[in-house]
Amino acid sequence: MPIDRQPADDDQTAPHTAPDTGAPRDPARRRHALHLARMMLAAGLAGGTGGVFAAGAAAAGTGGDKAAFIDDLLRRMTLDEKIGQLRLVSIGGDMTKQRIAEEIAAGRIGASFNTVTPAENRPLQTAAVQRSRLKIPLFFAYDVVHGHRTAFPIPLGLASSWDMGAVELSARVAAVEASADGVDMTFAPMVDIARDPRWGRSSEGFGEDPYLVSEAARASVRGFQGASPAAADSIMAVVKHFALYGAVEGGRDYNTVDMSPLRMYNDYLPPYRAAIDAGAGGVMVALNSVNGVPATANTWLMNDLLRKDWGFHGIAISDHGAITELERHGVADSPRQAAKLALAAGIDLSMADQVYLAELPGLMRSGEVPMEVLDHAVREVLGAKWDMGLFADPFRRIGDGSQDPADVYADSRLHRAEARAVARQCLVLLENRNNTLPLKKAGTIALLGPLADAPMDMLGSWSAQGKWRQSVTVLRGLQDALAGSGARLLQARGANITDDPKVVEYLNFSNWDEVEVAQDPRPVADMIAEAVRVAQQADVVVAAVGESRGMSHESASRSSLDLPGSQRALLQALKATGKPLVLVLMNGRPLALNWEKANADALLETWYAGTEGGHAIADVLFGDHNPGGKLPVSFPRSIGQIPVYYNHLHIGRPFTPGKPGNYTSQYYEQGPDQGPLYPFGYGLSYTSFSVSEVTLSSATLARGARLEASVTVTNTGSRAGSTAVQLYIEDPVASVARPVKELKGFSRVSLQPGEQQVVRFAIGEEQLRFYNAQLQLVAEPGRFNVQIGLDSEAVQAAAFVLA
Ligand code: NOJ
Repeated sequence: MPIDRQPADDDQTAPHTAPDTGAPRDPARRRHALHLARMMLAAGLAGGTGGVFAAGAAAAGTGGDKAAFIDDLLRRMTLDEKIGQLRLVSIGGDMTKQRIAEEIAAGRIGASFNTVTPAENRPLQTAAVQRSRLKIPLFFAYDVVHGHRTAFPIPLGLASSWDMGAVELSARVAAVEASADGVDMTFAPMVDIARDPRWGRSSEGFGEDPYLVSEAARASVRGFQGASPAAADSIMAVVKHFALYGAVEGGRDYNTVDMSPLRMYNDYLPPYRAAIDAGAGGVMVALNSVNGVPATANTWLMNDLLRKDWGFHGIAISDHGAITELERHGVADSPRQAAKLALAAGIDLSMADQVYLAELPGLMRSGEVPMEVLDHAVREVLGAKWDMGLFADPFRRIGDGSQDPADVYADSRLHRAEARAVARQCLVLLENRNNTLPLKKAGTIALLGPLADAPMDMLGSWSAQGKWRQSVTVLRGLQDALAGSGARLLQARGANITDDPKVVEYLNFSNWDEVEVAQDPRPVADMIAEAVRVAQQADVVVAAVGESRGMSHESASRSSLDLPGSQRALLQALKATGKPLVLVLMNGRPLALNWEKANADALLETWYAGTEGGHAIADVLFGDHNPGGKLPVSFPRSIGQIPVYYNHLHIGRPFTPGKPGNYTSQYYEQGPDQGPLYPFGYGLSYTSFSVSEVTLSSATLARGARLEASVTVTNTGSRAGSTAVQLYIEDPVASVARPVKELKGFSRVSLQPGEQQVVRFAIGEEQLRFYNAQLQLVAEPGRFNVQIGLDSEAVQAAAFVLA
């Protein structure tokens, strides 16, 4: 294979520019985009499953002929320049910024990540477009997962809103903030289905359900990319981790994934597909293997499925160091072979390793890798730059310096109102005995627990540029809510997150800048005694307990789902005081909360609620906001019970409640309670709702037609409230075993006391389709059961026949 070693033409030093898109660059237009988002917020955010902003895909291009532009550029690139484009470096690693600028000028870097201000990015972009031979712009990426400067709730929390308008708004605000900081691309959304809560990255995804996660994937892409990834206030979405990362064996991070094709196609792949169909410009490749072949070397996954079957045209980025890791997976015997495998699998951009840079020149010269393969990868990288509008204006998100904020950390740059409004929608009320909640703004309240005043934890993992000093803790939230009320607020820590020094050391080791888990050095008994003294003076005890944010993060798998012993001991002592006990839970995965459920009077799941978390939690605790969040994931009773997802397949010997005899599928120590502790879709309110029987517009559905399933939902309580009405469908007899039920739609309704609303769902063939044993997408004729309700178990049922 001949090697492209074209010398420089005269005109090759001319800047490569493409026509501008007219996308909003000036601050006034950016403000307009945000204004739109604010209007949604003012309107109550109500998003069913529809979108508010234009899908990215249709609007992604820039004016002019992208293919011709890239062809022309490619023709003029040397081999080394091509290889340079395939290198994504992390700024802040071993190389100094000076050295990086030199590498950029030499055409040996295509993109970077982890710089987050225009002032930092400008000299790097200047090196690219003024000093490199072809003046190809860089792009700047970052992990903007649930906010950039303003942290929104973690994705598992966002999914609990069951409000796609809220999910989209969080991504839109994140894009506005990140783009104003010179960021072009985010490594998000993370849409890995997670059914094993031992996996610490459960926190980063949207839960266990293919439909809900797919909807959240679409909403995120719409929010990040806005009208187009080329717009100055948009960032390109890179969906991750392709594929199946959430199914790592035993929930142990980076572990193997081995999965049947049916499960893959029906359950795990749809969210990635949804993000891509919504226009996500890129895909990040998973670190795990997929049925024996690492995703990073998996030609079936990356070429046959992603590019050929799904028609993906966009950039595929390896995860951190993943090409190097092919050797450790045992599929490559050298960096050279690793590079060859990855490029052949269609990995365009190599993240944070030198493998392409070091190995591709030799591989190309020897003819082992055809030039078309290299060119394809370069084309995708250049194509992404085009789609982000960078050829039209490399400084589109960086500006010329005149707009640089005097203080990048200024509070005025945050979007607190949006964060608070979204966060309070994400809180899930799990228990509320004797209407313990809402609390009165009167009397004495004791606020206890290691997470009561934990600003860093409030942000959650992957908090981007969220600064803990700017986050509102539960303590601050309660103080602000009670200001001027005459109520007394007492506080004590009561316990450390954990008393296990090994765990503390582990959690602090993984953090770079600051101490994540600071231990109170006092003896455990003294801390508990102090908390009990405080509790005894109070009318009600609020205990903020759970996990530090690092406990639900990358490389943070757990072998227990209990609250750490230190916190359980505190709660037992508080219970013994006889005071009403309210638990504010902060955690990034489902926990096994048996003791807590049995002993607390109220449980509020708050996940990690973000910059404004403390205010949102106070809004709910005092009833200024009536909670309406629902679980996007089932909560198990014990670690031995997992996985315990609701949409499991039919089996031959199911456990039958009320008939607990032998030879049915169960854990015999668990007695009659074989289901989850809290089911998927579950969440209480301060009011109550009733759901009528299901009305079907027809008992049969003809192919290509639609029928309507409806219920009347009534607010039967005495407060205004909102709930998520959920549609489940079951295909009870099919050519393969099918799930006992599957979510196929949902709709949020807000009702005044006594008010009713008819909630309608249109059902067509597409909701009945599944991949059969031949991996054909089919809707098989016969009976279908429809269930509509307020969680996956509390449902009303009806049936129809597909002709
Ligand atoms: C590794 C993580 O797996 C991935 O999700 C993240 O985007 C990259 N590091 C870059 O930070």
